[in-house]
Amino acid sequence: MPTALVIAAAGSGTRLGAGMPKALAPLADGRALLAHCLDAVAAARDAGTSLDAVVVLVPADPDGGARVRAVVAEGRARLGAPVACVPGGAERADSVRSGLAAADRALGRGVPGPRHVLVHDAARALTPPAVFAAVQEALDAGAVAAIPGVPLTDTVKEVVLADAGAAPGERTLRLTVRGTPPRGGLRAVQTPQGFDLDALLAAHEAVRADPARDAAALTDDAMVMEAAGHAVAVVPGHAEAFKVTTPLDLDLAAALLARRPA
Ligand code: CTP
Ligand code: MG
Repeated sequence: MPTALVIAAAGSGTRLGAGMPKALAPLADGRALLAHCLDAVAAARDAGTSLDAVVVLVPADPDGGARVRAVVAEGRARLGAPVACVPGGAERADSVRSGLAAADRALGRGVPGPRHVLVHDAARALTPPAVFAAVQEALDAGAVAAIPGVPLTDTVKEVVLADAGAAPGERTLRLTVRGTPPRGGLRAVQTPQGFDLDALLAAHEAVRADPARDAAALTDDAMVMEAAGHAVAVVPGHAEAFKVTTPLDLDLAAALLARRPA
C-alpha cells in the first residue's frame, strides 16, 4: 500500500524551555531531537516498515525553519524515500493538515486501493521500530485508523471547578473531583498514528469547517477521526515512545540513549 510518513516538527517547545524550536533541542549526545527521530524512522524502515514519501513540518519562522530543514538535509539519505519540508501552522492540527496535503501530493492519486499515512511527533524521537510495525500491520489488515496505546500507571480523576466564580489564579485550589474512570479501560496514546489517507484528509477538512472547532484542543489525529465517526484500533505502544515535553524528559532520553548500543 502506498504509505507516507508525516513528522510534526513545527512546534516551539514552550514547556521544554530550551530557547529554540523543540526539534532542534540537543539530546545528551549533542544531536538534535529531530535527528534522533529520523534515526528511529530509518531503523523502522530497516525493520520492515514501508514508506514511499516523508513530509516534515518545520517551524514557519524563517530562522527556525531553515535550521530544522538543515537537520532534515543531513538525515534524508538515511530515510530511503523522498522527503519534503513544509511550514507548519499555529497549532499541531494546523501543521498536520498542511502535512497531509503534501502527503496527498507526494503519493499522487489514481493508484487503486487505499493510501496510508503515518502521523508522527518528532518529539517521540526514540520510538522503537516495533511501534511503527504494529501500526502499519493494523492498517494492512484493514483498519481505517490505528494508534499505539499503553496502560496508565497513575489513577486518573476527572475534575471540575469547585467555584466557577473563582479568580483565575485561584482555580487550581478550587478543583474538585467529579469521578474516577476505571484505569483498566484507559490508554495513554502515542505516535505514529496510522490512517487511511483519504479518510483522514476528509476528517481534518470537516473539523476545520466547523465554526465551533478549537484547533488547540485537537491534541492527536485519532480525535479527528473519532469526530468523523470512524473506528480507531489500538495496538501496543511502548514506554520508549514517550514524548519529550519537559526538561525531565531529556533526562529520561539521556538514560535511554546511554543504554542503547551506539
Ligand atoms: N507540533 C507541530 N506544529 C505545532 C505544534 C506542535 O508540528 N504548531 C509538533 C511538535 O513539533 C511536536 C508534536 O507536534 O513534535 C507534539 O507537540 P508538543 O509536544 O506539544 O510540542 P510543542 O508544541 O513544540 O511543545 P509545547 O506545547 O510545550 O510548546
Ligand atoms: Mg504543543
